[in-house]
Amino acid sequence: MNIFLEKKILKIDSMLRLFFVEPHAPVQPNPAKSHCEKKNWSDVQYQQSKGQMRINHTGEICAQALYNGHYDHRHDVKMKNWLQHAAEEEYDHLVWCHQRLKELNTQPSLLNPFFYTCSYLMARFLSRVNAKMNLAFIKETEKQVEAHLNSQLTLLQHDQRSCEIIKQMIIDERKHHDHAVDFGGQDMPVMISKLMGIAAGLMKNIAFYF
Ligand SMILES: [Fe+2]
Ligand SMILES: [Fe+2]
Repeated sequence: MNIFLEKKILKIDSMLRLFFVEPHAPVQPNPAKSHCEKKNWSDVQYQQSKGQMRINHTGEICAQALYNGHYDHRHDVKMKNWLQHAAEEEYDHLVWCHQRLKELNTQPSLLNPFFYTCSYLMARFLSRVNAKMNLAFIKETEKQVEAHLNSQLTLLQHDQRSCEIIKQMIIDERKHHDHAVDFGGQDMPVMISKLMGIAAGLMKNIAFYF
């Protein structure tokens, strides 16, 4: 089979697996593993945990699209290695969030294929503009994700298992942000950062419920 076609089929296969197949075991163990569950929660707290962890799962689906979209258009080996390593850590986050959603008896967002497609197209578009724009986008995304995760530590004080996952994600997202800076990622123009924040806010409002 034509190698180009083979690569495309493998890409589509791994994308579909994100939505329809149970994720494989993470490389890093689930940070919530040794924490017991206290479940004397109110209905509001229960809905909060489900909704917030569904948002995080969707965020990690978008992270797969973001890193894969950039990886496809970079030729620098060092940068490609970093993008691949970051995508692997994001995959661990995806698995932990998936496992947590199962423990909470709920499912991932039904709109994940849509969110994945939007993120992938955005990453490809920026990669074609230039590498600097691509790195600035990763830097700003990781910064906004870290702020969002920090705010969840207050919202989910009742839910220690989710918080343990979130704390490790904060450490990893900060590392991704710093590596984007090391590779030359600069600040996004304020207007674009604001637009990114609005798009992320929309995604969060939808994924919380659906
Ligand atoms: Fe992540
Ligand atoms: Fe990240």
